[in-house]
Formats: sequence, structure tokens, C-alpha cells
Amino acid sequence: MTLRLAADAAGLARAAALLRQGELVAFATETVYGLGADATNARAVAAIYTAKGRPRFNPLICHYPSAEAAFTDVAPTPLARRLAAAFWPGPLTLVLPRRPACTVASLTGAGLDTLAVRVPAHADALALLGATARPVAAPSANRSGAVSPTSAAHVLADLDGRIAAVLDSGPCPLGIESTVIDASGAVPVLLRPGGVTLEALTALVGPVAPANTEPGRPRSPGLSGSHYAPSLPVRLGATSAGANEALLAFGPPPPGAGAVFQLSSTEDLDEAAQLLFDGLRWLDAEGRRLGLSTIAVMAVPEQGLGLAINDRLRRAAAPRPPAAAKEP
Ligand code: TXA
Ligand code: MG
Repeated sequence: MTLRLAADAAGLARAAALLRQGELVAFATETVYGLGADATNARAVAAIYTAKGRPRFNPLICHYPSAEAAFTDVAPTPLARRLAAAFWPGPLTLVLPRRPACTVASLTGAGLDTLAVRVPAHADALALLGATARPVAAPSANRSGAVSPTSAAHVLADLDGRIAAVLDSGPCPLGIESTVIDASGAVPVLLRPGGVTLEALTALVGPVAPANTEPGRPRSPGLSGSHYAPSLPVRLGATSAGANEALLAFGPPPPGAGAVFQLSSTEDLDEAAQLLFDGLRWLDAEGRRLGLSTIAVMAVPEQGLGLAINDRLRRAAAPRPPAAAKEP
């Protein structure tokens, strides 16, 4: 049985104690719910992979209560310091070289000499990280390959009985994962679009390089194809919808769909990001209940948070690998 803890003083203290004992605790951040483990405890980190059914050891993000704490484990470049000063606490993850004295288990970083670090902008997450007083490794708290969770109910739907507890802080305010930037050099490299927009990054530090996708080069596993996949197939760019389709709408929907979830009737990208994973989960459940065949998705503009939204939608629509080869 997984404990559902209220995010009050007692719940936070209990969650921190469980983490310090090597247990898995899901908790809210401003982006999505993370599945937390003490990042210095390799056994606890290994349990994350088992609970998620994550087939291989992909590097995890380490969460800290402050930039100062993060920079004791990784060595910040001048670029990283500027980004951290502007966007932390917030939905930005920085990939940086591990310090020799880094206490994080090498399994957390999948044996790489870099580590992804982040300071989340959520009062409960910051309180939990402060009370735990250890770096906390946390991928999104969903089963491998599935849609990311933005509520405690989503977490329990995927992981009930597989983790010690979920700290219930209600819905996540942003709803889409952090932007992942490799900040180990002079030029930032975008490894995953997310909550901090490309426009905001460029305004601060100039051009952002795309991830190197040459074959054989190390790249972020977060760039893998299929991910965020509901069980029904996903069709992008829908301008019409059949009675056998569940429609993810952005703005006024075409008539005729078997079920409709509205991301934002006013075409507001913040609102759409916040509701995206909720919508995919709801349409998937409703579509299966009604015997529908497809989730049809209306177009979302490629600007601001639309970049991250479209990245997740493309991956939800990508050809699915065999179940055993799914990415987290
Ligand atoms: O918003 C978020 O980032 C959420 C919340 C819980 O913080 N976490 C999250 O974690 O989305 P996860 O494991 O689902 O995604 C981690 C991403 C992956 O794309 C992974 O490949 C990349 O970060 N990553 C982690 N460490 C890396 C490293 N050393 N080098 C390159 N990419 C790395
Ligand atoms: Mg994930």
C-alpha cells in the first residue's frame, strides 16, 4: 500500500524520513510529480527503475533546495551561474560536470561524468528537499513510457503499491517538465524543451544550440522517440474529428468527435501546458471506455510553451517500440 500524505508539516516530515531511509516518495514540483529517492543511496535509486519498469539506467535529475546546494555536487560554468540566477527556483535543469567530491551515486547519473541538477519552484518540494537534506533523484512519477503525472491521483493510478508514499500537493501549476540544458560549455545546448521557453533563454544568453543528434554521439535519453504515450494511437494536426475519435482540442473544436478535452478555449499556451497530461490521460480512459479508436490532436503553435507541448505530443504519436524497449 502506498501512503497518501497530506502536504502539511507532519506529512512533509514523514516524507523526508522515508526518503532518508531509502524509500521512494512521489512529490509535486511546479512541472510534474517526481518519483523521489535519496540520490546518494544507489539501492534507493535502483528501486526507482524497478518501480517505473524503466528498462535501462537512464540518467536522472537531482533536485536541490538551492543553487548553492546544487553547486556543491556539480561545477558551475559562468553560463550555468547566469542561468541559475535567472531561472532558479524554476523549470530549468542544468547538465554540468560532476565534482570529484560529488556524493551522488554514480547510478543516478547512469555512470556519466555529468549530472543533471535542478531547483524546483514549488514550496512543498523545497520544504521536502530542505528537510531531507540530501540530493533527491526524481524522474517523472509514471510507469515507463506512459504519460507524466500532474496530480497525486495520476501517480497512484500508475504506482500504487510500488512506492512508499505520495505527498499530495494538488495539481502541478506548470504541468510540463523542465527544460534540460547542457550548460557545461560556453554555448547552451537544448537537450529537452520544457517550462522555460527558448525565447526566454535566448533573451538572456543568446543563441541556444540544438542537441547533437549525430549517430554514435552521446545524447539525452529524453530525446528518444516514443514517450508520453497513452494506450490509444495519437493523430496530430487534426482539423476534423470522427465519431470514433477522442479529440484533444486547442481552441474551437471541429464538430463530431466521440469525446472532447479542451486544452484552452482561448488558445492560451500556459493553460494548455498545465492541462496537457491530464487531457491525454482522460481522453485515453474515456476513449477506451467508449471503444474509440484514436486520440486526434489539434495543432498547437510552435512558440513559447508550444515547443515543449508539441515535443511531448510528437512523442506521444511516435511509433511505439516493443513494450520491453520503452524509454521512461
Ligand atoms: O520537470 C522535470 O524535469 C521532472 C521533475 C520531476 O523535476 N523530472 C523529469 O525527469 O522529467 P525525467 O527523468 O523524466 O527526465 C530527465 C531528463 C531526461 O531527458 C534525461 O535524459 C535528461 O534529463 N538527463 C538527465 N541527466 C542527464 C545527463 N547527465 N546528460 C544528459 N541528459 C540528462
Ligand atoms: Mg519522464
